[in-house]
Amino acid sequence: MITFDDVGFCYPHAAGDAVHDINLTLADGSFHFLTGASGAGKTTVFRMLHLDLLPTKGRLLVMGRNVGSLSRDERADMRRKIGVVFQDFRLLPHLTVRENVALPLALAGEITPGQYRAVDDMLAWVGLGKKKDQIASSLSGGEMQRVAVARAVVNKPALLIADEPTGNVDDAMGKRIMHLLTELHKHGTTVLVATHDPRLTEAYPYPLLEMKSGKMTQRIRKGGDAS
Ligand SMILES: Nc1ncnc2c1ncn2[C@@H]1O[C@H](COP(=O)(O)OP(=O)(O)O)[C@@H](O)[C@H]1O
Ligand SMILES: [Mg+2]
Repeated sequence: MITFDDVGFCYPHAAGDAVHDINLTLADGSFHFLTGASGAGKTTVFRMLHLDLLPTKGRLLVMGRNVGSLSRDERADMRRKIGVVFQDFRLLPHLTVRENVALPLALAGEITPGQYRAVDDMLAWVGLGKKKDQIASSLSGGEMQRVAVARAVVNKPALLIADEPTGNVDDAMGKRIMHLLTELHKHGTTVLVATHDPRLTEAYPYPLLEMKSGKMTQRIRKGGDAS
């Protein structure tokens, strides 16, 4: 469960709050889109959910824990249960594609042969089977995005947050990526996808959270009770 209780965030030295007055509960196993214009605060919300930024106001609970009261170790532990696709991918450039995708598994312990197969299956699904031994820095933007998605989903996280996960790929690949996210959701993962692509929000009936100037509101859609 994720609970925002009057959450606000102000970047250091900024004139005003990047996000403010967020009050919202997201049930375990729900799927939401987060929409809103550039600068509305989507990435800031994601960075708080990934425990990368702590709210400067209010209280945020992720998986039932108050993020403001976690120790460093507890925070690291929680992060391992969160899959994240960053808008700027954040791959490790000197590692291969396969090593990047295997990273969350490696952090959790020794990688089993079955897990390596899962990594390779995932790479095949996103069309990178032939590039798995290439260094990540040699990929195109769209390819990096596909690696970032594969890495985020490979260890079936409890929470998946994806910032514009289809922003750099064509329609067909966008559908394959959405398929991965909906499969995870079916297996119980709580999913939050930031997008400003209407093709995505129109094609899938998941409820919308709309951000505008740092405020978030939930829009109920007719027939959109797919969470
Ligand atoms: N590192 C930062 N330092 C200062 N201000 C920032 C920083 N990142 C984002 N902002 C500001 O916070 C607001 C929300 O930005 P962001 O969360 O990136 O929005 P979105 O992802 O919806 O485009 C914007 O006004 C932006 O300029
Ligand atoms: Mg953003």
